[in-house]
This record gives sequence, structure tokens and C-alpha cells, in this order.
Amino acid sequence: MTASATTLTPFGQDVLQGLSQPQPTLNSKWFYDERGNALFQQIMRCPEYYLTGAEAEIYRSCAPALLEELDGAPFDLIELGAGDGSKTQLLIEQFLAAGARFAYRPIDLNAAALAEVRDLIGLRWPKLEFQAIQGDYFEALDRLGRSTGSRRRLVLFPGANIGNFHPGEAVRMLERIRGFLAAGDLLLTGFDLKKDPAVILAAYNDPTGHTAAFNLNLLHRINRELEGNFDLDHWRHWETYNPATGAACSYLLPTSAQEVTIRALNQTFTFRAWQAIAVEISQKYSLREIEGMAEAAQFTCLRHLQDARGYFTDSLWRVPTH
Ligand SMILES: C[S@@+](CC[C@H](N)C(=O)[O-])C[C@H]1O[C@@H](n2cnc3c(N)ncnc32)[C@H](O)[C@@H]1O
Repeated sequence: MTASATTLTPFGQDVLQGLSQPQPTLNSKWFYDERGNALFQQIMRCPEYYLTGAEAEIYRSCAPALLEELDGAPFDLIELGAGDGSKTQLLIEQFLAAGARFAYRPIDLNAAALAEVRDLIGLRWPKLEFQAIQGDYFEALDRLGRSTGSRRRLVLFPGANIGNFHPGEAVRMLERIRGFLAAGDLLLTGFDLKKDPAVILAAYNDPTGHTAAFNLNLLHRINRELEGNFDLDHWRHWETYNPATGAACSYLLPTSAQEVTIRALNQTFTFRAWQAIAVEISQKYSLREIEGMAEAAQFTCLRHLQDARGYFTDSLWRVPTH
């Protein structure tokens, strides 16, 4: 008997739903358990993974542009998918130096990552108003409530996390974020830009194998948390990039036929040799496509803040007043 979806954790529910599809999938939002966080830190230090350095370069210099749009009003700095928050600290540092009045409210699924951010912020800036909200993006935004318009909101959606949604889904996601904002509030979203496909592929295929270990950790996590028996010696990480669509996709491939039992789901899954599990999309965009998304989600695109190589943009949008 399959476990009833209602008795399962959200992770269990997603795994059951994803592996039951004709084309099996696993949602990349579950990459970040304790081991996944540690592996992601190693990826961020890989020279091939240009995304972190590019966005840090932007965050180091974008405070004046953001503060100018906020007109000196006090605001809430809300971060979706904060992770270790290291880039955001670059921004906080500049905001404080400029005398900005704000509270920092990071959101993440991962309680351990948020605890780390809380400790770091507490050490560096004990007087900064801080509220960590653990949960899925919208569950956490619901807890924060809709903007009343009395205090400005600046929402950060960094790390190209938006790229983990298919383009149509991404627009719906941005529209939903707008639902929590009032006229004049700002959204700063990190988008990875279309570029030389070799550069993109290398970012998800580092020769040291950190990305492979990170992706395969999802199977480890199922074994650990859901009593699965994936045999990791028979699975491989595989990356593709399609320059026509801008989609970089990560797959987990069984090198031989596999039968996997996941006891918490009361379920056995069979995989043919080389039958892929799709685990992550990292969608790349052009500046024009991003502007189209702003319009579709009913934001005004104010400007693109880019790194010197033009690899990445943090696009600044405002909720229009009409
Ligand atoms: C790629 S890391 C990026 C971390 C950081 N923002 C950065 O740019 O370095 C993604 C983070 O988003 C979180 N995350 C992913 N999907 C999420 C969701 N649906 N709701 C809340 N947090 C999520 C993960 O737990 C992880 O900490």
C-alpha cells in the first residue's frame, strides 16, 4: 500500500509525486539539507561556478541605486531563499554605512541555514532588527502578511533561484510575489544571462565533482530521511544546456536497471538503465526576455545591474502606482 500523502512530510510528498511521473522528477528545492548546504558552499568556491562571484560583484556596488529608489523611507529587506546570506551581508554593510533604516527578514526552507545567518548577523550587527522565517517562499510570505503600504518593502530574490522554475512558472511566481507588495515596493531578482554555452555547462560540471556530489546527495537524502535504498554506485550526474531554449538541466542517471524501495512511502520504483530523473532546471535569460517577464508580472523594470563580464544581472523592478 502506498503511504497516504497526508501522513508524509512535505519532502516525502514531493518525492512520491515526482518519482510516480512517467518522466520521473525530483524537486531541486530539497537539495539543501545539512550536507547539501556544505556541498553548495564548495560549489560556490569553484572557479567554474561564476554565478556567486558575479552576483557578489553586483551586490557590492548596488546599494546607492536601491536607496535612491527607496527615497530614505524605512523598509523591510525580505530575502527569498537566503541560504548562508553571505552576499546579502555585502549589501547590509553598505545600507548601514549609508544610515538606512531597515529590518532584515530572510526566508528559507532550511532551518540550519537560517540559524547560521541569525548567528552571523547577531555577531556583526546586534542592533539590526532581524526576523528569520523558515518555510517555503509563499508559506513564509503568508506569515509575513501582505504589505499595508505603511512601510516599504525591498524583496531580494538572489542566486538565480528564479532560474529553477520553467519560464511560464517563473512569471506566475513573480506575479504571486507582487501580491505581497504595495505600489512603490521593489523586487531585485538575480537572473543568469545567456552566454557561451561552454561557460554555462562548465558551471554545472566542475572537474572536482562537487556538483555531481551535490546532486547525488538528493538520493542520499531520500535514503536517510525516507528509508530508501538507492545504490549510489549506480547513479551518475548528467548536465545539458540548450542554447536555443536557455535551459540548463541536471539529471540523475542509473547506469544499470534499478529497483528502489522507499520504505517511508511504502513504494518500490523501477528504473530502466539510463532512464533519467530530472532534478533541476537553471534557466538562462536575455535582458529582453527579463523585461518581458517584468511586464507580464505587472512590474515596472527600472534597471539591470550587471557584473563587468555581463554574465549575470540583478534586475530591479517596482510595483507601479496605477
Ligand atoms: C542556490 S541556494 C542560494 C542561496 C543564496 N541566496 C545565494 O544566492 O548564495 C538556494 C537557497 O534557496 C532555498 N530554497 C530553495 N527553494 C526554496 C523554496 N521553495 N522556499 C524557500 N527556500 C527555498 C534553499 O534552501 C537554499 O538555501
